[in-house]
Amino acid sequence: MSYTRLPVTTPTGDYEVVIGAELLGSAADLIRAATPAAAMALVTDENVWALYGAAVAGGLRDSGVRVVEIVVPAGEASKSWQRAGEVCERLAEARLDRTDAVVALGGGVVGDLAGFCAAVYLRGIDYVQVPTTLLAQVDSSVGGKTGVDLAAGKNLAGAFKQPSLVLADVSVLATLPGTEWTSGLAEVAKVAMLESREMVDVLIAEAPALLGRDEQPVVDVVLAAVRHKAAVVAADEREAGERESLNYGHTLGHAIEQVAGYGAVPHGIAVAEGMRFAALLAEVVVGAPEQTRVLQDQLLDALGIERPTYPRDARRLLDAMHADKKARSGTVRYVFVPEPGRHVVVPVDDATIAHVLDLWFDGESERG
Ligand code: NAD
Ligand code: GLY
Repeated sequence: MSYTRLPVTTPTGDYEVVIGAELLGSAADLIRAATPAAAMALVTDENVWALYGAAVAGGLRDSGVRVVEIVVPAGEASKSWQRAGEVCERLAEARLDRTDAVVALGGGVVGDLAGFCAAVYLRGIDYVQVPTTLLAQVDSSVGGKTGVDLAAGKNLAGAFKQPSLVLADVSVLATLPGTEWTSGLAEVAKVAMLESREMVDVLIAEAPALLGRDEQPVVDVVLAAVRHKAAVVAADEREAGERESLNYGHTLGHAIEQVAGYGAVPHGIAVAEGMRFAALLAEVVVGAPEQTRVLQDQLLDALGIERPTYPRDARRLLDAMHADKKARSGTVRYVFVPEPGRHVVVPVDDATIAHVLDLWFDGESERG
């Protein structure tokens, strides 16, 4: 077992992201070093429970922790207000107190849900993220955004709450279904576009190895993505400025997830589609060069990220975009990346968005 520790420093808490292979066997020791909790609620979903639940729960019990197992159905539908209430009720029934902790073992759904429960239960108890999807390892487990979806939009109820530890074991990614793998690669592509041309080029070159899930390239992209995110979150924990960049692709992406029905299009795949559209819109709104869109398409294609099926309905998508948390005073704001490594956040009027969406969808039907 070898691993790297990356520090994350924020105004509300400092912690480490531990990244490596074959780490689950040491999870209990690493978790116990990060929190003094004597009792821990292990929150996970049915799929992850079947694969890794016993190993983590057993390790914690062997180290003397009282473990309360809370297993929720897999999928985006579990990121709901109702499910969060049920989890909090379970924490209370198990009499977890303010010195106890939550361990989120799973993908972004479990991490967001369990983190939200840890943020509100007893007005906040410790929690640890053990992300088991690529998407959660490169993005959602780091930075302290927790929350649930509302019918009106994604992530509309939530809290900032930094974890005490993030434990990213790349070995567990071996069991991830193919679509979830590409969904995670989409968030990596997002980071590359925000970070630098160099990272985009490296990803394109490494794409075959990443699609083959070769261990070292995977560890490298998790490290690169977490380094990028840690720097952004350290500068702007509460998304007052710089952190908005991480929502690149999310304005249309979240709208697609909502309009298609939560869970129908994996988050990263929806974000990639949002990146493709944002690149086109950026040409119209900020005069971004076409070559950026061409390069981004090359990157997404190399990573095997195909365009998803969802209602090509500009009006419904636009309505959903108005629920976006970046929207201000009724105006949708877009993150644009005119060239890799440089972003701007710009208000865009509805007529322009609808027009470019229509053009984009018409172009698809003409190509057949
Ligand atoms: P997910 O949590 O639904 O996991 C995807 C699927 O993979 C599920 O069916 C799960 O059971 C399964 N799975 C998880 N780990 C597995 C493993 N190791 N082997 C086999 N199967 C496994 O989806 P996700 O893509 O991880 O997360 C998406 C969520 O993350 C969305 O709700 C999104 O809004 C959120 N998100 C949050 C942030 C943040 O900063 N908080 C950032 C990005 C995304
Ligand atoms: N995924 C966006 C953020 O964490 O800010």
